[in-house]
Amino acid sequence: MLARLATQRACLDFAAARIAGLPGPVLELGLGKGRTYDRIRRIMPDRDIFVFDLDTHCPPALKPPSDTLFLGDFRDTLRAAVDRLGNVAALVHADIGSEDQARDAVLARDIGPLIGPLVRQGGLVLSDRQLPLSGDGWERLPLPQDAARTAWPYFIWARLH
Ligand SMILES: C[S@@+](CC[C@H](N)C(=O)[O-])C[C@H]1O[C@@H](n2cnc3c(N)ncnc32)[C@H](O)[C@@H]1O
Repeated sequence: MLARLATQRACLDFAAARIAGLPGPVLELGLGKGRTYDRIRRIMPDRDIFVFDLDTHCPPALKPPSDTLFLGDFRDTLRAAVDRLGNVAALVHADIGSEDQARDAVLARDIGPLIGPLVRQGGLVLSDRQLPLSGDGWERLPLPQDAARTAWPYFIWARLH
């Protein structure tokens, strides 16, 4: 757990610095217990943050405002977000993993193509799972040093165009 949190902190800090000059909201896929949401709102206090999950099961203090919540299956809510927001996101953080690797692989395959249309040119996608973002227009970035040191798997892609 410490390695995971250290990796997420390093990757989110790296992303915040990298997108500093880029407008647009952050999309947090996987509110869970609200740990990474809390980090995002602390290090990017001026960004709008839209949050996705099946439901809210975080501590009350970490519950996002209801008008920023997309509740339901990612496969549905990401489609709704394209209609509502368009390709505006400066950062998507997809923290979607569970202990069921087969289930996670199917989810990653399904949501990869739904995430792309939400990200603006120059924007980043971070994830705890390998998403199918390797095609034209995407570049996989190396992890920042503090994340690489933990050896906890994490992935970063930049949208080139
Ligand atoms: C790893 S947890 C997120 C942890 C959170 N980022 C944190 O720091 O506490 C993954 C979350 O994804 C949500 N999730 C899993 N599959 C989903 C799906 N198909 N649609 C919407 N949410 C889903 C789960 O409910 C869970 O809260």
